[in-house]
Amino acid sequence: MYPVIEWKDGKVIMLDQRLLPAVEKFIVHQSHLEVARSIKDMVIRGAPAIGIAAAMGIALGVAELQDDPAIKKPGVLEAKFKEIVTAITATRPTAVNLFWAATRMEKIFRESPGDYPLLRDKLIAAAIALDKEDYEINRRIGHNGQALLSSGDTVLTHCNAGALATAGYGTALGVVRAAVEKGKKIKVIAGETRPYLQGARLTVWELQQDRIPVTLITDNMAGLVLKKGLAQAVIVGADRIAANGDTANKIGTYSLAILAKYHGVPFYIAAPLSTIDIETPDGDHIPIEERDPAEVTHFRGQMTARPETAVYNPAFDVTPGALITAIFTEEKILTPPFGAAIAALEGLRRK
Ligand code: MRU
Repeated sequence: MYPVIEWKDGKVIMLDQRLLPAVEKFIVHQSHLEVARSIKDMVIRGAPAIGIAAAMGIALGVAELQDDPAIKKPGVLEAKFKEIVTAITATRPTAVNLFWAATRMEKIFRESPGDYPLLRDKLIAAAIALDKEDYEINRRIGHNGQALLSSGDTVLTHCNAGALATAGYGTALGVVRAAVEKGKKIKVIAGETRPYLQGARLTVWELQQDRIPVTLITDNMAGLVLKKGLAQAVIVGADRIAANGDTANKIGTYSLAILAKYHGVPFYIAAPLSTIDIETPDGDHIPIEERDPAEVTHFRGQMTARPETAVYNPAFDVTPGALITAIFTEEKILTPPFGAAIAALEGLRRK
């Protein structure tokens, strides 16, 4: 299992994904504000991993209150808990797993009696359990999805929906891993994923660690790859799936889905049920994060366009459900019409 995030000795340790693949460095977080900054700055990224970080950040925030005598006064602990949750959830708006994890922690807060040590321990245990649970969920997504891959297939993927984006197995790359574990020969083509290069830096790195054959392309090569029949399936992850199946994922996913449709290649989403947001009716209602223009004008401090250049830098786009062949979840494979398939899901957690 990859050491993406870990609760250790009352601290939260994260692999600094900004530095990969050149440097493997871990950051130790002692406060929830440090965790919030790391989510915002993409030390950790990927929807499920962000959810785990949120849960651990909230648990850490409550643990920080240990020596604060004010929490004994009526209402103070609740007010401080709300501040912690606000700090954590104000980081990245699109990945719904962040809010899903915060809601889970809020439920524990509400259900716990006013016994601070018990509450703190319950929140820490819940955050650690969420990490373990995510790993198992990814394995089940992988098991379900791999059934649609044949030995000899090449999978085109985008961004990083792998071990690094989750507790350590991956959603889209979990499907590849599960197929390989079944003895199927699978190759991957990874789009580099401008501007942050999660594909080049992270997907390629983690597949190389597992010795799964991977070929890197720049994003603008995907059309040619699909036209030439070099990939038999496109599999990507998701940051938020609306109630009708419209899916937000890394910018560039929508273009890939159109290309896949045009070339008759199946386009699959692999995601846990926690990424399905039944409160959001369709893709138009999914908030799309816009990031710092410097991500487009610069790469790691190196100028690639004049800094004063006007830039549009949405981090995600929305693929309409009509372009999606199937959604792999831990419970089952969803097929169109997605509105009905999602409404019928048993495992969906409501607020
Ligand atoms: O901006 P990022 O790196 O957090 O974006 C990540 C993605 O878009 C992933 O594809 C998505 O979160 C699914 S991760 C299993």
